[in-house]
Amino acid sequence: MDTLLKVTGLNKHFGGLHAIKNVDFELEEGEMRAVIGPNGSGKSTFFNLLSGIYPVDTGTVVFDGYDITDWEPHRIAESGVARTFQLLRMFTEMSVLDNLRIGHHCHVRYSTFAGLFGTGHVAAEEKRIMDEMMDILELIGLADFAHIPASEMSIGQRRLLALGRSIAMRPKLLLLDEPAAGLAPVNVDNIMRIMMTLKERFSLTVVIVEHILKVVMDTCDRISVLDHGEKIAEGTPEEVSNDHAVIEAYLGREMSDEQVKDLLAV
Ligand SMILES: Nc1ncnc2c1ncn2[C@@H]1O[C@H](COP(=O)(O)OP(=O)(O)OP(=O)(O)O)[C@@H](O)[C@H]1O
Ligand SMILES: [Mg+2]
Repeated sequence: MDTLLKVTGLNKHFGGLHAIKNVDFELEEGEMRAVIGPNGSGKSTFFNLLSGIYPVDTGTVVFDGYDITDWEPHRIAESGVARTFQLLRMFTEMSVLDNLRIGHHCHVRYSTFAGLFGTGHVAAEEKRIMDEMMDILELIGLADFAHIPASEMSIGQRRLLALGRSIAMRPKLLLLDEPAAGLAPVNVDNIMRIMMTLKERFSLTVVIVEHILKVVMDTCDRISVLDHGEKIAEGTPEEVSNDHAVIEAYLGREMSDEQVKDLLAV
């Protein structure tokens, strides 16, 4: 297996707050990884550093063989890293389909096609893109709503749209920041299932941030645990769920084996 992402000695401060502390993180191609941790443990900050939204204090981020540590967000996106945000961001006045096409435009430079091949080829390319976007809408179950404004979508549908838009960028690596936040359990299951389908279909490597351990127990190959900006544990779901440091980070106190079992019971 090839390493797709290698993060070494990553640090980030916000004033006096040491939000990410010396984090090492390595991802194999095709892996499905969860990053979990209590509120404020640095999960979103970690993603913001990987995607270039915040500058890194010290440390390196190597993606797909390139040192992307100091790259601008758009360049990181173009190189194959897509992300979703914890708080939904979309163009509510625009249709579901157009929201998806915006994601795609980050990937394809339109004028290049026009310049190279002339307008006939642009029309063909336009059609191909449209087919691809409709294909994604089918996969996320929103094809029937393609021409409806995003503002009319439910929270669950918007979460799916955010997922679809990140896929439209044709990434290699997908960073999902609490993609199921605010959803009822049945919708959480649905989005996790669709995410797994997309992962297989587009051969993605995925990192999913969650703060609920149970949500990622069945789906992820490995789990990394952050607490106060530090990586305190990493391993298979089974290894991590047997790690008392992890449980204590969540509850801030020592627990008996019985209490741990209760906490993890699905
Ligand atoms: N732009 C910022 N400026 C100052 N402090 C910040 C900034 N972003 C995050 N922080 C702080 O860094 C710490 C980590 O925040 P972060 O949002 O990464 O946590 P999180 O693990 O994603 O939490 P949650 O589960 O609530 O989403 C918190 O103490 C937060 O207040
Ligand atoms: Mg967060």
